[in-house]
Amino acid sequence: MDERTGKEDASMPVIVLCSTKGGVGKSTTALVLSQFFSAADRAVTLIDADPNQPLATWAKRSGERVPANLTVIGGITEETIIDAIDDAATRTAYVIVDLEGSANLTAASAISRADLVLIPMRGKQLDADQVGKVVALVDRAAKLSRRAIDYRVVFSMATALNTKEQRHIFQTLEAKGIPVLPARLMEKAAFSAMFQIGGTIFDLTDEDVSNPKSAIANAKELAVAVANVLTGKGREAA
Ligand SMILES: Nc1ncnc2c1ncn2[C@@H]1O[C@H](COP(=O)(O)OP(=O)(O)OP(=O)(O)O)[C@@H](O)[C@H]1O
Ligand SMILES: [Mg+2]
Repeated sequence: MDERTGKEDASMPVIVLCSTKGGVGKSTTALVLSQFFSAADRAVTLIDADPNQPLATWAKRSGERVPANLTVIGGITEETIIDAIDDAATRTAYVIVDLEGSANLTAASAISRADLVLIPMRGKQLDADQVGKVVALVDRAAKLSRRAIDYRVVFSMATALNTKEQRHIFQTLEAKGIPVLPARLMEKAAFSAMFQIGGTIFDLTDEDVSNPKSAIANAKELAVAVANVLTGKGREAA
């Protein structure tokens, strides 16, 4: 491992959060993952390619509470996204890209550079209907760049209750051969409080939200599942 960058080898993972639907948990998932990887002593670049700048705003609000090895880059457009990803990939161990909820050129460009595309969705049929559009976008980007691009659906804002609708969605994804990450992000106040209060999930106290420890444990499951896909251990789930 290169001690300066924390990089383990030449092919550093680029993780892209993509959905054609808004409000499904992309920015939350991107922020949670970046905080866990940086807490594990890996340098992370978080690229905010959403014109609404949710992560750049989080970084501004957080000030010195942004971990030293986590760099947040905002103001990225369709003209600058590829260079921003390529440049970050030479400097940090992980590059995580947050997109707006749209199948535009910025999304297609980011996906063309991705090692793993994460497609967050809530357990709702309206979200599930959109997943195929992202998969088609990934497939087109893979053809254009003449390489396979791995992807996983991530259930976000999950509740302990497994509804009939959720079971049906799960079966439909399985029948279509769309791989689902074997960990879900539960709906918890801690995950929205990070944006409101600033700082990381590790900074939240019992006064800020109820039971921040359970949110940390859940977020860790997600980060481990993503790391396993990247190292190849999660491929049997595909
Ligand atoms: N696991 C969660 N628990 C609680 N609240 C959540 C969770 N995930 C997301 N939220 C909340 O749901 C809303 C949408 O989440 P988020 O901004 O992450 O979605 P997005 O896909 O990035 O949206 P957009 O398409 O607008 O960029 C936010 O208010 C966020 O705080
Ligand atoms: Mg977002």
